[in-house]
Amino acid sequence: MSTMDRSTTAFQELIGTMRQHWANQLYPALHQRYEQATQGQPPADSAQAGQAVEDLPLYHWFCFIERHYQRMKYSDPRWGLAAALSARPDWVAEQLHPAQDSAYLRLRPELPLPDYYSAIDIHQHPGNLVGADYDGLMYRASATSIHPNTRRFEAHERMAQWLQSQGNFLSVLDMGCGFGKCGFPIARHFEQAQVLGIDLSAPCLRLAARTAEQEGLRNIRFEQADAAQVPCEDASFDLVTSTQLLHELPVEVIARVLAESYRLLKPGGLVAHLDFRAHQPWPQFLIEGHSVRNNEGYLPGFNRMDIAAAYLAAGFEPVRIEPFAETEGATRADWPYWRFPWTLFWSRKPA
Ligand SMILES: C[S@@+](CC[C@H](N)C(=O)[O-])C[C@H]1O[C@@H](n2cnc3c(N)ncnc32)[C@H](O)[C@@H]1O
Repeated sequence: MSTMDRSTTAFQELIGTMRQHWANQLYPALHQRYEQATQGQPPADSAQAGQAVEDLPLYHWFCFIERHYQRMKYSDPRWGLAAALSARPDWVAEQLHPAQDSAYLRLRPELPLPDYYSAIDIHQHPGNLVGADYDGLMYRASATSIHPNTRRFEAHERMAQWLQSQGNFLSVLDMGCGFGKCGFPIARHFEQAQVLGIDLSAPCLRLAARTAEQEGLRNIRFEQADAAQVPCEDASFDLVTSTQLLHELPVEVIARVLAESYRLLKPGGLVAHLDFRAHQPWPQFLIEGHSVRNNEGYLPGFNRMDIAAAYLAAGFEPVRIEPFAETEGATRADWPYWRFPWTLFWSRKPA
């Protein structure tokens, strides 16, 4: 963000540096202690995995940074992003598409927000992306530091490249598009396609629409809509996709989103939801802890649900569940640093 004062800039840089330290030094040290403690006696489940480290001061320092540096990044009263942005309403207004319909944007102010969405300040984002006009800007300013060791938005760029390996798509729906992190690379990679990004968050959609306008992208537009009930005709798209949406939904809503993905696809169309999944006790322990420390209340339910059965119940062919490398080498067994367990869930609507 270009308008921050020097103290805020210094503080935000410290947060980013601490996050790197956390992922690249603290985490490997913690993992090493875990390996030493469990040598020869692998834990049966995530609770047992946790017992190997829970009494270590190192573990408490790891948890403290994960929770409080994220909170301070947003909400520190002097140098947090919310303080910096709320002090600059004119600059914020310039960064956003006006809150009115255009070739790039359709807002539905009357759309009710689901209770599960309003219930949690997810990622510790105050107001959960719908509290203030600057929420999309705040999410964008924060979004790089939570994915250490990747280039800016690298996972989303790689997702668009993976989609290219699956064929050519002319009509694309990006569910839970946020400020367009995945929609933009898709629009650039598939120049012939019409891409529609939908989200509940008007502040994110206004930022996405403004960015598309500024970049002169003519094949993408954004609408305020619920991914569990999309106001589009059956069989409107040949690709339905999302990134980091499913883990933010309760299990029963995921089933509805998959049913919508099916309804909206043309026969033979591709569904590809990119998210997180941890199978082994240690990564499960980490992700369950992360869900508590970062207010990701629906993540454990998503991680443990029978997603293969949910895809089948929606009508899809058997789902492929594949580890996804957000950067080169990240899925290697000896990758030493902390990372989200990125996973691709993809399938097709029977032709
Ligand atoms: C973690 S963010 C991911 C945003 C973007 N896809 C990305 O990868 O950066 C999850 C997004 O899903 C949106 N969202 C949550 N529930 C939704 C729903 N039922 N319908 C549409 N969007 C939803 C949130 O507003 C948020 O923008």
